[in-house]
Amino acid sequence: MADPSRVAVLASGSGSNLQAIIDASLSQAIAATVAVVISDQPAARALDRAKRAGIPTVALPRQKGEKRPAYDARLVDCLAGHNVSWVALAGFMRLLSPTFLAAFSGKVVNIHPSLLPAFPGLHAQRQALRYGVRYSGCTVHFVDDGTDTGPIIAQRVVPVDSRDDEEALAARILREEHKLYPWVLDRLVRGDVQRQGRIVTISSSGSGDTPA
Ligand code: GRF
Repeated sequence: MADPSRVAVLASGSGSNLQAIIDASLSQAIAATVAVVISDQPAARALDRAKRAGIPTVALPRQKGEKRPAYDARLVDCLAGHNVSWVALAGFMRLLSPTFLAAFSGKVVNIHPSLLPAFPGLHAQRQALRYGVRYSGCTVHFVDDGTDTGPIIAQRVVPVDSRDDEEALAARILREEHKLYPWVLDRLVRGDVQRQGRIVTISSSGSGDTPA
């Protein structure tokens, strides 16, 4: 059986969430261990961050003409070699096929920079600013076959300033993402998260519904 604390992180870009998870893990603030980092972008900064921390990395670019099921089958093969129990998407810019999700049923989570179900998909911060909301935030959710539609595990609220541009709002949300994602992964690997249909409960051990 796969080690319950071992998490694969899939990232396409900068990897600041990955860094927050690595830092929390190495300082033993959380029980989760990053077992491998996989990216579809060979030049992703996320891969460098992982290498610097001594974590195995895999660059898995999509091959020319390769369809999603074929790519996802390679992804599943790759993960199978790393004995992971959880897959955490952290800015991974590919949608995953039902076959992939079936292989890791109920074990794939994602972080999104809005208070879902508001503003799913790309450019969530831009969507929030254009809509004129006073508060946005971030959401960690289980992944299902929709775009950012899976059951919500935890959220953090972030105020929107009328002077914010996309970059300013994204930066303020990211600061909360960096607290929320490691916290959620800790609760997941400890087995504190229960799910019934869409309703997710986190058993209380004194640390509340979101990080302090
Ligand atoms: C974050 O805003 C996350 O919510 C979204 O993609 C971005 C990734 O940022 N899914 P980083 O690569 O972790 O810095």
